Amino acid sequence: MKNFNFYNPVNVLFGEGKILEIKEQIPAGSKVMITYGGGSIKKNGVYDQICEALKDYDFVEFSGIEPNPRFETLIKAVELARKENVNFLLAVGGGSVLDGTKFISAAINFKGDEWQIVESAAKFDSAVPMGTVLTLPATGSEMNSGGVITKASTKQKLAFGSPLLFPRFSVLDPVTTYSLPIRQLRNGVVDAFVHVMEQYLTTDDNTPIQDRFAESILLTVMEEGSRLVELKEPDYQNRANFMWAATMALNGLISTGNTSDWATHMIGHELTAFYGTDHGVSLAIVLPGLLKKVKAERKVKLLQYASRVWAIDMNMEEDKIIDLAIEKTDDFFKSLGVETSLHANGISKDHLDEISERFIKQKYVGMMPDVKPSMVKEIFEDRF
Ligand code: NZQ
Ligand code: ZN
Repeated sequence: MKNFNFYNPVNVLFGEGKILEIKEQIPAGSKVMITYGGGSIKKNGVYDQICEALKDYDFVEFSGIEPNPRFETLIKAVELARKENVNFLLAVGGGSVLDGTKFISAAINFKGDEWQIVESAAKFDSAVPMGTVLTLPATGSEMNSGGVITKASTKQKLAFGSPLLFPRFSVLDPVTTYSLPIRQLRNGVVDAFVHVMEQYLTTDDNTPIQDRFAESILLTVMEEGSRLVELKEPDYQNRANFMWAATMALNGLISTGNTSDWATHMIGHELTAFYGTDHGVSLAIVLPGLLKKVKAERKVKLLQYASRVWAIDMNMEEDKIIDLAIEKTDDFFKSLGVETSLHANGISKDHLDEISERFIKQKYVGMMPDVKPSMVKEIFEDRF
């Protein structure tokens, strides 16, 4: 196990009816800005619950944060927050609203070109405190300190983060997810699954606790995720279990002391930037293709994954076991109703070379050297 620091200060308020408790979490007298997306919260009753909880506060609203939130939109929220002297942000929605609000939180007091917070990891000394009400289990943004922002004008989709950007609290009420369309449920299951894979299916760092935590999350995401997309009516326990699994998948716990990669996400982000592909879908396309490329380097973990997660008969040649584990991964995504080829997702060849070139120029893909920039093109060919 490698040395590590583990810090996660997020106060999680989990369960039905918990939205009302936000009034105990936001300091009295705060000037609050509620941020949200395209309006789902107005249709499912979440907005009304927020207004009820905030009735003793002075608040303003910023709506219209789009999926894969754009710098161009968020900067308008920053201007509004500055003008209104906002000193507490409440993000209500999915990962895009939460990530967008993290950016707003960092940018409000930033002097200079705010995009540099994302593009060059420009340092900032303070961030406006924020809380979240999560309505879409998937990204883990509710319990981590990172975000992903797109600059539409340059087709860049980039991650940023800082310990200053942990939410002060996050409300996870499974009932708020009842209004999610099937497409978002599917995306969420894939995203949570791949988050675990990017932190677990790397090198063997002798981290049995972290490995077994990761495997338990994968198994839970598989079981609960399959039910989630099959059930005709939402089931509270199913929603609760999936929601918590998705949060645990990316709150820093399973990556302690071991090696993470994130190459699948880096390639997926480019597909989203160029083609508008849903985040979850982009990962379902890339991950199986990427695993095929690193079969030798990640053999130990792939065999462990095959045995413990897929219960594959280990009395076969190692190569066959690994191929089967990768095939089962691909099949799992398909069983959710997610297409896993570029072609089936309507992705043309138009920008694939440009994306591959970006990685060659950048000289790396994820954090592990076994995924080489030249492989991106090969992965696309394999997944077309
Ligand atoms: O905008 P509204 O009207 O709210 O509709 C949203 C949006 O259209 C809708 N939705 C959310 N909750 C709903 C709902 N519709 C009905 N009922 C509800 N309860 O769902 C649509 C998609 O929302 P979005 O927030 O974009 O989805 P998701 O949570 O999957 O977030 C994706 C973004 O998160 C980033 C991704 O790159 C992408 O930009 N990620 C953030 C991470 C992080 N901060 O740690 C890690 C992830 O790997 C990921 O990269
Ligand atoms: Zn993700």
